[in-house]
Amino acid sequence: MSISIEYFNDVWHNVNRRTGGILMKIFKNLENGSVVEGLLMDVVPNGYRELKAGEVDAAQEKHVPQVSVEDNKLKVVVGSVEHPMLEAHYITNIWVEYSDGTVDRAGLVPGMKPEYVFDPKGRTGKVTVYEYCNLHGLWKNEIEL
Ligand SMILES: [Fe+2]
Repeated sequence: MSISIEYFNDVWHNVNRRTGGILMKIFKNLENGSVVEGLLMDVVPNGYRELKAGEVDAAQEKHVPQVSVEDNKLKVVVGSVEHPMLEAHYITNIWVEYSDGTVDRAGLVPGMKPEYVFDPKGRTGKVTVYEYCNLHGLWKNEIEL
């Protein structure tokens, strides 16, 4: 089966509206290297590859997202040793996937701190946090709210 990224995202958002969300996957564009989140499906959009957390062998301490709760907010820092944020090597995105299937995403750029504070807005349960390094791929961690 073949599917375009536009159709893919349309389906994903429609399903989220109907059901409150389902599990997320993260895909990399094979031409320009950009990454995008999408619906759990048996197909991968045309021109994309599914990323798996930890599939690149690199320093865990610089990549595994560190997650803490402060004042009802979710603070994510990459990682236990701060990850570089240089033009050639940086964290492009951080995603937070809540147990109800909804997802928050933060886009980062070089020069920023490799961290972001998310507002769970009262959501509870398991939270899976992903980050993507342009050189070292996708990494994740989990926390219970
Ligand atoms: Fe990295």
